[in-house]
Parts: sequence; structure tokens; C-alpha cells
Amino acid sequence: MKTLFYNIKELFQVRENNQSILKGSEMKELPSIKNAFLVVEDDLIADYGSMENAPKDFDESVDVSGKMIMPSYIDSHTHIVYAGNREQEFVDRINGLSYDEIYKRGGGILNSVEKLRNASEDELYRDAAARLEELIALGTGVIEIKSGYGLSLEAELKMLRVIKKLQENYPVKIKATFLGAHAIPPEFKGNQAGFVDAICNEMIPEIAKLGLADYVDAFLETGYFTVDETRKIIQTATKFGLKSKIHINQFTAINGIEMCVEENVLTVDHLEVVEDVDIEALKKGNTIPVALPTCSYFISIPYTPARKLLDANLPLVIASDYNPGTTPSGNMNFVVATSCIKMKLTPEEAFNAATLNAAYALEVENEYGSITKGKKASFFITKPIHSIYAIPYNFGSDLIETVYLNGKKQ
Ligand code: NIG
Ligand code: FE
Repeated sequence: MKTLFYNIKELFQVRENNQSILKGSEMKELPSIKNAFLVVEDDLIADYGSMENAPKDFDESVDVSGKMIMPSYIDSHTHIVYAGNREQEFVDRINGLSYDEIYKRGGGILNSVEKLRNASEDELYRDAAARLEELIALGTGVIEIKSGYGLSLEAELKMLRVIKKLQENYPVKIKATFLGAHAIPPEFKGNQAGFVDAICNEMIPEIAKLGLADYVDAFLETGYFTVDETRKIIQTATKFGLKSKIHINQFTAINGIEMCVEENVLTVDHLEVVEDVDIEALKKGNTIPVALPTCSYFISIPYTPARKLLDANLPLVIASDYNPGTTPSGNMNFVVATSCIKMKLTPEEAFNAATLNAAYALEVENEYGSITKGKKASFFITKPIHSIYAIPYNFGSDLIETVYLNGKKQ
């Protein structure tokens, strides 16, 4: 089946060859073709170019006049499997409590742990599937989903099975991450070392054996997990053939980025607090920094110093962090907008961070992230707009008209 998309006002993120991750000033350019065509054959991108070279033989055609095409967003950091909500904590924060104070009272992540342990697998699946369907309509075509609200082998497996079921039932590409080290569960209170041992000796081996996770994560933060504990978890994951993606420097500079680079961690996520030593460490390795600006927005904490990272010629990825506590939204259009408005990325940089570079954060760069022949035909068509700047500029509007995933209209 061959479909021609014609009269595309502007076709974005067009890369002739598989482009390596964009660093520093390379992120300024978002290559595009104006008045373009795109040919999709089955689930793949077969051809593209200027309208005057559009092919004449095809099975069907779609008129894209006045509208633009962008490859699907890749959201490399979410926690969309959770039970209930944390609306009361949202109001508590408005009334003056901090995220840390709420956690110390037994709320925060532990609030979601209690709810998740009491929820059935079916209930969790239904809620997560509804969230995923909303995100697909908002342009996300590849997503990472973490566990981390179970914190016991049984409850973590329940979450990972929900993620597996989503993988089986939806055309969006999903990567699963085991986040056992998210917080200390009540049954291990006062015995943090015992919990880290349970993660390394019981949970990671079993989850690896069942093939339920692509990555391992840990919350490396003051009051949660230390640099040494996180290193132990990363090294255990490596032993079982799993790479790590680490939550780090969200609230405090914890001096752990150097360790993450040494241990060949795939991505370090959050980085609201960044020190010069962290930048120096990132420059020495291949670990990718990931900013989560809508988390900063929602809980009123500093934004990742994106310009400082780019000035150091580092790559940058942006993701949503969709979770019930710090970011109850997975709208990547709003992530792009917040990156522009609050982190001072140009729209070109923000789209590169949310598509091409984000593909590297989930190791799907050979299949997704750009309009390249042979890659998956996963993209969105905008409503009629003046320029692609409208997406961050009209930050509260839904400007996506149609979504295609693997060549199929959603
Ligand atoms: O990425 N900081 C750690 N984990 C999540 C928040 C989890 C929660 O509050 O439920 C985050 O912000
Ligand atoms: Fe997170």
C-alpha cells in the first residue's frame, strides 16, 4: 500500500542519512522542505521531496494543503502507570507545603505506592491505556514508561505487566523501565541497605529473566538513594544486560553525574541543579542529559539550565515526566512550549530535543525521530498554521489534526 501526502506546506526534521545525536549549536537547525510530498509504503517512509518531483503512481493520496508534518514526539521519560491521583497534594503545595515536606509526612511517592498496591492490574491497565490514548492524539509516537510505584517484587511486576500489555495493544513504540529504587517502602523503613539488596539480588534478576524491562532507573537524590547505592544498582543492571537511566539533581546537586558517566548510564534526567563539575563529567562521556521542564513548571522548582548545557556543546533531550506527583501531564506540545518559554530554547532546538535527540535517549534512532527513508512512518499533521512556531507560541492550543503511527491513521 502506497500513500502520497501532497501539498505539505512544510515537512520537518528531514534527514537524508541517519543523523547522529545533535550537540550544542547543531541543535539550532531543523531541516525542512517547503511545498513538499511524502510517500508512505506500508509502515515505512519510502520517499519525500519537493512537490514538483512528486510521484504519479500511488494507491491513495492525502491533501495536506496549509498544514505541516513533523515526525512523532518521542517522550523518553514517563510514569503513566499509576493509581488514583495526588490532587490533594497539589492543593497542599499551593497552601505552602513543599514536595519534600509532603514526602516526609508519608505522602508523595509513598502515597502513590499505597494506592498502586491496592489497585487491580485491570484497573491500572484501563487508566494507563486512557492516558496513552490521549498522548497519541497529542503527537507522541514513542514513549518510555517506568515502574516505581510498587516497590515490592510483586507490585513492580504488576506494573511491568501492565506496560507489557500496553506494548501489545497499541501501535505506539513503548520502552519499559524498572524503577525499583524510587523511594524506601514502609516495610524497609530504617533498613535502606536491605531494600537496595532486595532490588539487586531479587528484583533485577527476576525482571531481567522475565524480559519485562529495557532499562533500570533510580532516584539519586538527598533523602532517597545515595551515589553508592545507585552505583550498585547500575552495576547490577549492567551485569544483567540492562542499561540505566537515572533521576538525578532534581532538588540537590548530589555529585553523582560523574559516577553515571563512568558507569555508562544512557541518560541522566531532571538536572534542575547543575554544577560545573557535572558539565565537565558529561563532556567526557556519552551519557545524554534529559530536561523535564513541565515538572519544574508544575512544582515551581528551577528549570534545567539548558543554554548552559548547549554552550558546553552537549546534546539535550526534553521529555514530559508524566506522573501523578510532579507532572500530571504528558502533552509534548506543552513540553516544547515550556522549553522555549522558560529554558530559552529556540523552537528548532526544542523540536530537535523532542524528536531526533530523544530517539537516542530510547535507542530507537534507527527507526524513529526523523523523516528519513526506511524509518517508521510515525508523524503528525498539524491544523492549518502559519509556521511551526505556532506550537510553542499558541501554547494552550491543540494544533495537531491527524496522527499516523507506523503508516496507519489513528
Ligand atoms: O520524576 N522524582 C522522582 N520521581 C518523579 C516524581 C514521582 C512522584 O512524585 O510520584 C519525578 O519527578
Ligand atoms: Fe520521573
